[in-house]
Amino acid sequence: MTMLAMDFKEQVLRLKKEKNAVILAHNYQLPEVQDVADFIGDSLALSRNAATTKADTIVFCGVHFMAETASIICPDKRVLIPDLEAGCSLASAINADELAAWKAEHPDAVVVSYVNTTADVKALSDYCCTSSNAVKVVSSIPADRKVLFLPDMFLGAYVAEVTKRKNMYIWPGECHVHAGIKAEDINKMLATLKNADFLVHPECSCTSSTMYHIAKGDLAKTGHVLSTEGMMKHARTSDAKQFVVATETGILYRMKKENPDKEFIPVKDDAVCRYMKKITLEKVYNSLAHNVFEVKVPAKTAEKARLAIDRMLAIS
Ligand code: 13P
Ligand code: SF4
Repeated sequence: MTMLAMDFKEQVLRLKKEKNAVILAHNYQLPEVQDVADFIGDSLALSRNAATTKADTIVFCGVHFMAETASIICPDKRVLIPDLEAGCSLASAINADELAAWKAEHPDAVVVSYVNTTADVKALSDYCCTSSNAVKVVSSIPADRKVLFLPDMFLGAYVAEVTKRKNMYIWPGECHVHAGIKAEDINKMLATLKNADFLVHPECSCTSSTMYHIAKGDLAKTGHVLSTEGMMKHARTSDAKQFVVATETGILYRMKKENPDKEFIPVKDDAVCRYMKKITLEKVYNSLAHNVFEVKVPAKTAEKARLAIDRMLAIS
């Protein structure tokens, strides 16, 4: 028997209570999934929320590395992801063997891994960071220590530019969604929308040129490099009425819902992460009903990865 979307919503809300479960959703999730979530946020906020929840079960509506992070932080809780194929092209850009080989080339370096990495990679890292605290984390490392930053080259270039750090080596990984957002797309749009605030995620391939324009003063009033939650906050607090948004388009649903009197325009309509969209309401229901799919990081890996995550949480 097929269940209607409305029924899935009712069933999800019922099961959530029955099982003392909490639904955490990333800002890029489908609208109907965001609507059943207890908490919506960026990678850092989701990690924080997982760390403090009193629920027995966490249904993680995001991608696999985020669920792994929740499992590392809360080893006693059941962490479920509604679809195991919700991966991340950026997290796949480097594996543990590649990182071990890179570390061997730079034995004295401090390793900073963006949270979009597997648990195995985090276990070989000194610090974890997210887009909202990468600058803070790198700034906290003594200036004379070499830094290996991975896996996002655009976020790395952005952090190197802001911190003016010269001893930072950056892994050449990228997110296919954000790499597809180019400076030309943005320049074209900003040329016609002169009063709009411009919000850009540090993973975008346009970030370097955006930094340049901000430095030159061209975008001094309107260019903001922010994590997805930073964008949400800016949308709420800015006096602007129009916003050009350079990130995955899933974030527009929440932006519009929370700011109905403002206008949000995506730089690229097809900036869609197919991995994030693997999670549907029906799969969330299935996950809660059948306790699938559990994400559990082996204790030894989790213990080492946790150190890197805890260092990040302590700095933010
Ligand atoms: P945020 O931490 O800014 O939410 O970014 C996570 C992500 O996967 C961006 O693609
Ligand atoms: Fe990974 Fe990019 Fe999707 Fe974010 S948008 S989850 S970085 S593939």
